Amino acid sequence: MVIFGASGDLTRRKLIPSLYYLHRKGRLPLGTQVVGFARRPFARDEYRRYLRDAVERLAGTAVDHHSLDAFAENVFYVIGDFARPGYYAHLRGLLDELAGPRAGHLYYLATAPGSYGQVVGCLGANDMAHEEEGRRRLVVEKPYGYDLASARRLDRTLYAVFDEDQIFRIDHYLGKETAQNVLFFRFANTLFEPVWNREYVDHVQISAAETVDVGHRAGYYDGAGVLRDMFQNHLLQLLSLVAMEPPASFAPGPLRDETAKLLAAIRRFSPGEISRHTVRAQYRSYLEDSAVASGSTMATYGALKLWVDNERWRGVPFYLRSGKALAEKSTEVTLRFRRRPHPMFAKTCGADVDANVLSLCVEPDEGIHLRFEAKAPGAVADTRPVEMRFHFGGSFGGDAVPGAYERLLLDAVHGDASLFVRSDAIELAWRLIDSITRAWEEGAAGVAPPLVSYLPYKWGPDEAEALLARDGRAWLRGCGGREEALR
Ligand code: BG6
Repeated sequence: MVIFGASGDLTRRKLIPSLYYLHRKGRLPLGTQVVGFARRPFARDEYRRYLRDAVERLAGTAVDHHSLDAFAENVFYVIGDFARPGYYAHLRGLLDELAGPRAGHLYYLATAPGSYGQVVGCLGANDMAHEEEGRRRLVVEKPYGYDLASARRLDRTLYAVFDEDQIFRIDHYLGKETAQNVLFFRFANTLFEPVWNREYVDHVQISAAETVDVGHRAGYYDGAGVLRDMFQNHLLQLLSLVAMEPPASFAPGPLRDETAKLLAAIRRFSPGEISRHTVRAQYRSYLEDSAVASGSTMATYGALKLWVDNERWRGVPFYLRSGKALAEKSTEVTLRFRRRPHPMFAKTCGADVDANVLSLCVEPDEGIHLRFEAKAPGAVADTRPVEMRFHFGGSFGGDAVPGAYERLLLDAVHGDASLFVRSDAIELAWRLIDSITRAWEEGAAGVAPPLVSYLPYKWGPDEAEALLARDGRAWLRGCGGREEALR
């Protein structure tokens, strides 16, 4: 495995620790070697020390030094300039020397996206993508383009050297155990799928709240904003998992076909709708960051009301929201079911017997909560909402849930593209997001909602509450065991 951008943040915080955990669990194929490639002039031992340090810092006392030593033995480093083919000849020489030309190679683009073209061009120039001798795969990190046009340009750059089936576009949300569990929950059980449609579901909510502000990534973020950073990829992928039709099998082709079909079924906004069905906001201290352009109108919070125009979902709103500097780090998907058509208990319990709520807790504390009504003991016919809860930690043990990168790296090594994003899905997602960003960035009254501000570390702007309140609904916080969410 060759990591381009080997001295960067992603490599240190995610890739190397995940590879180490895989090694410790014995899940990496025998003989896996990792070669870092970057400009920083590390000597090989220095690089190993740097990575050991990264793993120790993240894993703390959980590090097993014996296995870390063994892992580090198989880590190498090449100093190189991404844009200069000569350095790649050296890299190629090292790869041949380490494992012979017949070994499979996985190239991981963990550089800034501006360097993707250079790396891929140089791999091509050095004949390092051909598969006559062994497998050659390319993993591409997000952001995958900035809009539809740039994503297509990036595709063309990659296709000049690699075929689509050699390309693995990462969306780390797909590697999260609980995101995958949405499919297992829906399609491995009999109970839920029959009610998973417009007949029974009132609406769906998808929330990805973060406590962190834009911090040291302000420079990047101020050119991207919440729609490109979180919605185009993570939230739309979660929406696909929740709403897709059952694929014929859990294989890359059928699964990714259903994702594309679902994304294509999301209704495009007509002019005027964006100002009514979207909310954009910025947390109050955002403009104080020196890396943020003065007067920037970039949104750090967004909320959207979307529709999926197909037989299953016609008329069911999907509310999506995400933001930085919010009260809590949590990602959850919640389905609120319709009330019973005949309110049999209305006379004694009042007409507002709660509807059932199913919450898929993506993080933290991954699990599932199902809220339903139970008869209050002793009362003649009073009901109370109660919950059944499942959590991975409780059922499978403390460290049952591996990190998203562990899963995705292993899949890429084995060539399983099921949880990677195909180019048609990327395009469809950009088409939708572009139409909203264009309106937001033009900012004209009547076309875009006003940019509002929100207090950091609270629950976001009132306008997001109003988006649902207008429909007689409210954001739900179904996960995390908050009793106060219950009546
Ligand atoms: C990244 C975004 O893709 O996902 C970040 O660029 C965001 O801005 C992160 O913080 C959230 O990932 P997670 O796994 O912490 O929910």
